[in-house]
Amino acid sequence: MSDVLVIGSANADLVVPADRRPAGGETVLGGDTTVLPGGKGANTAVAAAKLGADVALLGAIGDDAYGRLLTDSLRDAGVRTDLLRTVERPTGIAYITVTPDGENSILVSPGANSVLEPSAVEGVFGGVEVMVVSLEIPLPTVERAVAAAAEAGARTLLNLSPAAELSARTLAALDVLLVNEHEAAWLLGSGVAPAKLLDLGPRSAVVTLGARGALVITEDGTTGIPSPKVEPVDTTGAGDAFTGALAASLAEGVTLEAAARKAVQVAAISVTRQGAQPSYPSDAELERVCASHFPATTS
Ligand code: RIB
Ligand code: NA
Repeated sequence: MSDVLVIGSANADLVVPADRRPAGGETVLGGDTTVLPGGKGANTAVAAAKLGADVALLGAIGDDAYGRLLTDSLRDAGVRTDLLRTVERPTGIAYITVTPDGENSILVSPGANSVLEPSAVEGVFGGVEVMVVSLEIPLPTVERAVAAAAEAGARTLLNLSPAAELSARTLAALDVLLVNEHEAAWLLGSGVAPAKLLDLGPRSAVVTLGARGALVITEDGTTGIPSPKVEPVDTTGAGDAFTGALAASLAEGVTLEAAARKAVQVAAISVTRQGAQPSYPSDAELERVCASHFPATTS
């Protein structure tokens, strides 16, 4: 079994550059479409594997060209795919608009991801150090994955993206709840101290703050982790890069704070390049970029 088991979605990302997003009833002409491997689960798995972790993805794809694109990308990154099922639905597709400021908006057609049943996560946690789950798959499967991973003694990391209502039981079974600022505000109400996330049940929490870095919240307090300054080209999948990097480091046994320091660097590199998976750095690349571009944040 792999050290890191990611349970989540795999999508083909159909990416269109555009000066602005169309409003309701409006037609806007964009640039050429690029088809790239994506999906929050597959992205997380690729990010972790590129950093050298031993990773498997449990997910679902269709028997189609997009499914093969995803399988190839996962295998190229070294992700194990024996828990990736081929089902009788089309592979998930994400329709992504990227504007010149690097900001994206995403419409997901889940397809195969929507038939990943809770039964798929039975008996898969032997030897798993860290289980990571995100929310583009059915909620009962997410909740079962967290419960079964915790029972098996794996550390449980949940990326609350896209935001959805979780049971108190699931929140209490989490070692790390990972959210961005919008998801934190959605959970707590705006203006509430992020440390209150622990009152919801998880042992620790990480709040990603985009260009401002991240907050690590444990029972010992809240620590701010600054991000290196970069010129954003495409922020798609930056949160997944962060999640994968965090999981890879946690599987190595480092502290949550040290894991988050590395994860902000990985996410920062990812936003300087097009796409999600193709923008994630390898360990060697990360070291190179940190030495030459991010000296102030390298510890
Ligand atoms: O988090 C980014 C991902 O969200 C994209 O790759 C897209 O597939 C959507 O799932
Ligand atoms: Na990117």
